[in-house]
Amino acid sequence: MAFTIPSKASGAAVVRAASAKRNALALVRSGVSTSFKARRNLVVSNVAAPAKEQWHVTLHGPAPNSSDRAGLPQLISKEQVQALEADLDQGASIAALRRFNDNLRNIPTDRWEAVLRPVFNELCFNLESFNPAFTSCLLMVQRTIGVSDYVRRDLALKNLIQPLAGEYGMHNGQEQLKTHRELFSDFFTSLFGYDLQQLLSDSPPPAAAQLLFNQMSRDIMTGGGQSSEPLEQASYALGYNLAIEYLADYEKTWMLDSFRALDERIFRGLGKKIDWVFLEVHAEGEAEHAAIGHNAVLNLTPADHTPILRRAMADHDRDFAAFYNRIADMLEAGMSA
Ligand SMILES: [Fe+2]
Repeated sequence: MAFTIPSKASGAAVVRAASAKRNALALVRSGVSTSFKARRNLVVSNVAAPAKEQWHVTLHGPAPNSSDRAGLPQLISKEQVQALEADLDQGASIAALRRFNDNLRNIPTDRWEAVLRPVFNELCFNLESFNPAFTSCLLMVQRTIGVSDYVRRDLALKNLIQPLAGEYGMHNGQEQLKTHRELFSDFFTSLFGYDLQQLLSDSPPPAAAQLLFNQMSRDIMTGGGQSSEPLEQASYALGYNLAIEYLADYEKTWMLDSFRALDERIFRGLGKKIDWVFLEVHAEGEAEHAAIGHNAVLNLTPADHTPILRRAMADHDRDFAAFYNRIADMLEAGMSA
């Protein structure tokens, strides 16, 4: 049931339309190596190939005849999950991400550092906060032991562990690489010219990122506050995880595009040599992670839990949008100061 997709393939294109991205995700899921998402990766690779940062994820689909086994609930279908993902394309987070990136691309040349510092303070916390969120999602699936089917639960976890391990530099068949915290720190230092620790010690608590983290933790661990039944809570957590990964694909792809534009307009002229690895590996890897999250849902979630998935995805869409609108506000405030 497993098939492997390469994280780097061939081609070039930048399209911002949500429908194009959705088609790309569908192609990545089906293992087509010439997908839109994969095609644009070669451009990234050719600019600054991070030779030690290439890896493969392995997708694990539902076991054969998984929905036919006696006594087990019918699993949700791929088409049902895709319909839920399509709702995210029209959601508040996509609008907020567009707004943030429009503002980011237009920061003033002469005050870029003052405008970006508070945003990086928020992003540093926010990006790390997805690690405990992923761990919580995984835990909620593990906690269905004795309730969910042995094989279904195991396959879901076999998918979920990979993006989480990847945050700590661990990938199938490779020695441990830099963690994503190290990569973010390297990116920060190459841009600002000093250590990330200096920003953190000089900055106030990142209130917007802390709020989102609290909302994510609360919701993932309680089925959105509406269920105490383990399998319902796991379905909610799987939907929440899928929403995180699905939106992160847009988020990281657009963030890389925006910083490339800023590099041309501002940073290159200042003699900065940006360390792109953090942005590149995320812009490339999130489509695969979204495909992993998609498969984890297909492994375990009963079809009649579709409303639970929809609610989880809407909850994250709402709170993630609020976070990005807040840091878009910060950019605007900095630009008009
Ligand atoms: Fe990461």
